[in-house]
Amino acid sequence: MKIIKVNNYEQMSQKAAEIVLETVQEIAQPVLGLPTGSTPERLYELLVRTHQTEHVSFKNVRTFNLDEYVGLPVDSDQSYHYFMNEHLFRHLDIPENHIYIPNGQAENLEQECAAYETYIKQVGPVDLQVLGLGVNGHIGFNEPGTRFNERTHIVELEDSTSEANARFFKSKEDVPKLAVTMGIETILEAKRILLLVQGEKKAEILRKVIHEEMTEDIPASVLQRHANVTVITDIEI
Ligand code: GLP
Repeated sequence: MKIIKVNNYEQMSQKAAEIVLETVQEIAQPVLGLPTGSTPERLYELLVRTHQTEHVSFKNVRTFNLDEYVGLPVDSDQSYHYFMNEHLFRHLDIPENHIYIPNGQAENLEQECAAYETYIKQVGPVDLQVLGLGVNGHIGFNEPGTRFNERTHIVELEDSTSEANARFFKSKEDVPKLAVTMGIETILEAKRILLLVQGEKKAEILRKVIHEEMTEDIPASVLQRHANVTVITDIEI
């Protein structure tokens, strides 16, 4: 793993924006894998700003989001569809049919997972997968204990995840219990992975991810196996 040590959130976001923009500008039909959460918010702002001021076009970009809650309407302001539209997509020139986000409202969720895998096979591989890190070591919504060979699937969220994400809802009880997430095997098929981790509350888990033996109890530790991972962090490793 290549570690880029930065001093703060702003520097992490700027460095990440540089790498995303390189991918967008150097590859003819770039495919990005994108996360939600508070970690990438500033990165998305910087991408929007570059699009607006330097006229970098995203019209050939295709995107796959990592995950979505089950049961939230896409226009609910807690859905990841809404988050991505508000923070990124509606500000860019990316065609709507280039954007893939799992449909957490699908009647048949198993079928939705299989369809998502098919889209990734047809359009991918993902050139650059951006990831955040959950406090329990999750990536996407792959909670501790998820098998490394899982592909897109339905998950039950851990209590600690519902708690961490409750800040976006009225209360912890309002956080959906289920989500659809790209699996770990799916994530590992990206050509390059960019893991963004910021803040002292993730220091302990990040050290485990990087230094401890790979284990399904710490989903992100699987990244040790991938040949092209860059971690950008303000944490002393
Ligand atoms: C959420 C998302 C993840 C995200 C993580 C960290 O539950 N499903 O994709 O990376 O938790 O969130 P944050 O960036 O807000 O700390």
